[in-house]
Amino acid sequence: MSLPGRIAVTGAAGRLGSALVAAIAGRDGTTPIPWTRAEWDLDRSADAAGRIGADRPGLLIHAAAWTDVDGCAREPELAMARNAGATGELAAACAAAGIGLVVVSTNEVFDGERTDGRGYAEDDPVAPRNAYGASKLAGERAATARAGGHGLWIVRTAWVYGPPAAAFPEKIVAAADRLPAGEPLPVVADEHGSPTRAGDLAAAILALVERSPGGTFHLTNAGATSRLGWAAAVLAARRPERSVRPIGRHDFRRASDPPAWGVLDTGRAAALGVRMRPWEEALAEHLRG
Ligand SMILES: NC(=O)c1ccc[n+]([C@@H]2O[C@H](COP(=O)([O-])OP(=O)(O)OC[C@H]3O[C@@H](n4cnc5c(N)ncnc54)[C@H](OP(=O)(O)O)[C@@H]3O)[C@@H](O)[C@H]2O)c1
Repeated sequence: MSLPGRIAVTGAAGRLGSALVAAIAGRDGTTPIPWTRAEWDLDRSADAAGRIGADRPGLLIHAAAWTDVDGCAREPELAMARNAGATGELAAACAAAGIGLVVVSTNEVFDGERTDGRGYAEDDPVAPRNAYGASKLAGERAATARAGGHGLWIVRTAWVYGPPAAAFPEKIVAAADRLPAGEPLPVVADEHGSPTRAGDLAAAILALVERSPGGTFHLTNAGATSRLGWAAAVLAARRPERSVRPIGRHDFRRASDPPAWGVLDTGRAAALGVRMRPWEEALAEHLRG
């Protein structure tokens, strides 16, 4: 479909949300309607219909979520309410208003046990291994159940970084700076994914909406690496005197359990001409920025 003039974005102060607002503002003929927590709160999600009525968007992109995966593991019911219940409310409100909805979801809907080196395709069996993944999958299902016939795009992505808050690249530099000189930085080597720049993802989401009537899609920067490989690329650019040391996922204690193989097959979007550049190029631009 062609993009409508007014596009609302939830989570508009977040990494992806702020990139979407910028991408929408940067195009001719589209105006972003940013919804931060002040405009619409996941904890008061029934307000969605009133907000849509007041702002009259032609499309809503839902980038807000409770993204604290360890918090979700500690409070799974709250995770369900925020990441699934609120998504369902939003879908029902979009259906009632006759507008399309983009729901941003995650590679963590898959268990990550795959060992054949291929990325997960959209129709592969889902089996989240943590509360965050379960709540995001329930959000996909709630949106599907309550959406109208005006377009529903479910976009799964992974390892998103970008401003405004410190993300993995900034945390790696900060962690390296805290170590004594010469000591290598321990980084997880057995968790794989595709580092994805928020600005690249925002542009790809808009292109996908333009080129398809809806559906489930995977979008990440191209290629894949481990956390260790990602950290090494960051340090090579920003702290070349520093080195990394491999550790296992289970050496790094946390409340949630991330999938070991979180790589997504992005072929369905590519077949529509929506292709994202290699993660190394996007990261290099981010680090130059
Ligand atoms: N980051 C990743 O690696 C990753 C990977 C796969 C999928 N995703 C998905 O991508 C989307 C965007 O994530 P992101 O990386 O941009 O994360 P983010 O920077 O943490 O942004 C999430 C946004 O949600 C908002 N939010 C949190 N609780 C809220 C509440 N109760 N009411 C209203 N808004 C609330 C936050 O608002 P405040 O700014 O006020 O806190 C923030 O703006 C999410 O759906 C996420 O699940 C992310």
